[in-house]
Amino acid sequence: MAAKLKASVSVLALGVALASGSAMAYQQGDMVLRAGAAMVDPDASSSPLAINGVEVAGTSVDVDDNTQLGITFTYMLNDNFGVGVLAATPFSHTVTAKGLGPDFKAIDLKHLPPTVSLQYFPMASGSKFQPYVGAGLNYTLFFDEELTSAFEANVDSGSVKLDDSFGLAFELGCDFEISDNLVLNAAIWSIDIDTTATIKLDSGPKVTTDVDIDPLVYMLGVGYKF
Ligand code: NI
Repeated sequence: MAAKLKASVSVLALGVALASGSAMAYQQGDMVLRAGAAMVDPDASSSPLAINGVEVAGTSVDVDDNTQLGITFTYMLNDNFGVGVLAATPFSHTVTAKGLGPDFKAIDLKHLPPTVSLQYFPMASGSKFQPYVGAGLNYTLFFDEELTSAFEANVDSGSVKLDDSFGLAFELGCDFEISDNLVLNAAIWSIDIDTTATIKLDSGPKVTTDVDIDPLVYMLGVGYKF
């Protein structure tokens, strides 16, 4: 055999051996726990601010992004379908008020967006590369909402509450084997998070706005397969 052909055959054999290595098999009962950096990047839109139900034309709010420790978990129901959970340390966001003079930071808040989804892994169980798609439900719990000092200076002191949100979530992700039990993971979610912010001013009026936060959530992490 010519050296070149011999080398080619060796490379091919190595490729087959790698591709057929079953260490990484995603099979019924497998669990994958992943941790990494998760960023919530809102694509926010809102109704105008309403004072005692009367909308103030030209006003709206916007929401900034935030990165926290994300944790995801998959339990394989069979070789191709799993149940996935997304959890994280609380995200902190600032809501900016627009249209009431120059923009100002109005509300600080925290939230947790636990998400459960059904995931589909199309690759054969022996593949080192395990992309997946998922669809499921998100519950977003808002807490520690506070009016900023800028809001109090621009408007009035008071209190603020955001309604919790229940909505659909879609995800795309991929695990890539780096050793028998370790994977690199990248994932992105599109989550429907809609809420109403209600501000009670100490001077009496109530200010409300409906906010569609509708973020993309990006995560890069490392996972361990049990
Ligand atoms: Ni929405």
